[in-house]
Amino acid sequence: MNTCETSEQPTSCCQRRCQNPWRMLVAPICAFLLLVAIAVSVVLAVAHNSGGATPTPSPPPPLPSGPLRGLAYAPLPCIAGTCKEQLPNSDVMQIGYEKQWGSGGRNDLNVIKKLGGNAIRLYHSFGFGPRSDHGSFLDAAHDNGLSVLPGVDSDLAIHNCTDFDCYETVKEVIKTGFSLGFAKGKDWHPAIHTVILFNEPDFFANDPKCPQKASWCRVKAAISALDGLLAAEREANISGRVNLTTTWSFAALDSIDGKCKNCPGYFGFQDMLAVIENVSIAHYKPRTPAKDLADSFHRRWVNALNVQAPWGFVKETITKNYGPFGNRPWFIGEFGDLGQTHDILKNDVQAMHEFASANDSLFMGASIFQFQTAYWKGGSEMSFGLFGLGKEKIADTEDVCDNKGDCCKWPVYCLSTDLHWLPADQAQRAAAVAAAWNGTVTGLCRNATQIIV
Ligand SMILES: *[C@@H]1O[C@H](CO)[C@@H](O)[C@H](O)[C@H]1NC(C)=O
Ligand SMILES: *[C@@H]1O[C@H](CO)[C@@H](O)[C@H](O)[C@H]1NC(C)=O
Ligand SMILES: *[C@@H]1O[C@H](CO)[C@@H](O)[C@H](O)[C@H]1NC(C)=O
Ligand SMILES: *[C@@H]1O[C@H](CO)[C@@H](O)[C@H](O)[C@H]1NC(C)=O
Ligand SMILES: *[C@@H]1O[C@H](CO)[C@@H](O)[C@H](O)[C@H]1NC(C)=O
Ligand SMILES: *[C@@H]1O[C@H](CO)[C@@H](O)[C@H](O)[C@H]1NC(C)=O
Ligand SMILES: *[C@@H]1O[C@H](CO)[C@@H](O)[C@H](O)[C@H]1NC(C)=O
Repeated sequence: MNTCETSEQPTSCCQRRCQNPWRMLVAPICAFLLLVAIAVSVVLAVAHNSGGATPTPSPPPPLPSGPLRGLAYAPLPCIAGTCKEQLPNSDVMQIGYEKQWGSGGRNDLNVIKKLGGNAIRLYHSFGFGPRSDHGSFLDAAHDNGLSVLPGVDSDLAIHNCTDFDCYETVKEVIKTGFSLGFAKGKDWHPAIHTVILFNEPDFFANDPKCPQKASWCRVKAAISALDGLLAAEREANISGRVNLTTTWSFAALDSIDGKCKNCPGYFGFQDMLAVIENVSIAHYKPRTPAKDLADSFHRRWVNALNVQAPWGFVKETITKNYGPFGNRPWFIGEFGDLGQTHDILKNDVQAMHEFASANDSLFMGASIFQFQTAYWKGGSEMSFGLFGLGKEKIADTEDVCDNKGDCCKWPVYCLSTDLHWLPADQAQRAAAVAAAWNGTVTGLCRNATQIIV
């Protein structure tokens, strides 16, 4: 009768995608409930305002910015073999996923804090997620002492920007974000540390819309995203407190101006200097006056890259070549440490914290890649999670939705440290990171022998 039988995993779906016979009924009911909710909130708001002098509590201050000890966070509720028909929405900050990140569920944010982390890095925070509450995630992160590095979805550049001009698209998604909780009063939410304007946009070269794999595609996307974010702040009158970056891949590319050849990751650092100096190099006409764009860049831009290599190699590669980038700080947005043993991972993570703690260090720290195994990607992507998923179902998510209003509920499984598909000496990733950060591994499945894959 229902509905979702072709998509093996959702425990329930509503609205468009699943051929649900109730759909014809559900949509009007949803619409009606929405109208009622709006009416009620208008009435309450009016009542509240006419009540007069309730002072808005001032938001808590931003978190102290010590060395970043972050986790990259993209835990889709998919296990081996599921989610083939349909992927759950990637915007994992949305309130629908509260049973994953919140204290009423798996409490991932607290698991990260207990590991010794102080930051969380995301990918799809602005883009194709629903127009639902994102402030609760930020509040919960702040309560756990975690700085948040939300990401503008790279898929926007492929699917919404015109010829990699992302000004309008990014302006729109950031303004939407402000209304969903990314702003508190006239400022960004105090949990937010740095906004990531696209992840590895160097891959846009592989898109058919990028002629001859030109380097301007990635640079135009990044600079127009910066331009769009600044416009969103102006239009919403939000102060520009938070820093901005793009996380480049560790590919050995040439910078757009050719000044840097075969430069793993830091090709992108040079790209940004080049485009700020002469924006037409990226085939782009900024809407923000060039001088203001440059001022914002100098005041707010930090450099970032993603790596799978061990720390020693990354440290040497970047520090040896950092001269042209002056005293602009840099961080690692994904520290993968592919195929390393417990001891090497632990030592690397510890060494990064120490290097970032040194007084004169431009290195801000790293986000470890990543919180949960990406079962749905498979292959080498199985190698990076600190946690796998166990058999015990903790809860179902609430409605997890996309920006068109298609929603499903998904099962939330417990966290497990069993990564038995990896060689034994590489399979203790959570323990290694906890040891490096003086933390503990908590929040696991009650029955550790019940492992799904
Ligand atoms: C992206 O473009 C599609 C098609 O034009 C549109 O439906 C969607 O709302 C856009 N999304 C965003 C976030 O701009
Ligand atoms: C913008 O915010 C500032 C203070 O945060 C305020 O002084 C100013 O009046 C606001 N401007 C508009 C147009 O709302
Ligand atoms: C800026 O770049 C464009 C395109 O590469 C070039 O034609 C122009 O001469 C450059 N302008 C300056 C001032 O260097
Ligand atoms: C923000 O960026 C500026 C410019 O690069 C830098 O000087 C500052 O240290 C950064 N702040 C944080 C908290 O990262
Ligand atoms: C680092 O800076 C702090 C505060 O300025 C100072 O107390 C400390 O002695 C410095 N440490 C080193 C190793 O220079
Ligand atoms: C962990 O403890 C060691 C030894 O006390 C200390 O040097 C290090 O800074 C601590 N690491 C963190 C992340 O707090
Ligand atoms: C734990 O899992 C094992 C294996 O699936 C099962 O035999 C056992 O009954 C479970 N124990 C509890 C307390 O659920």
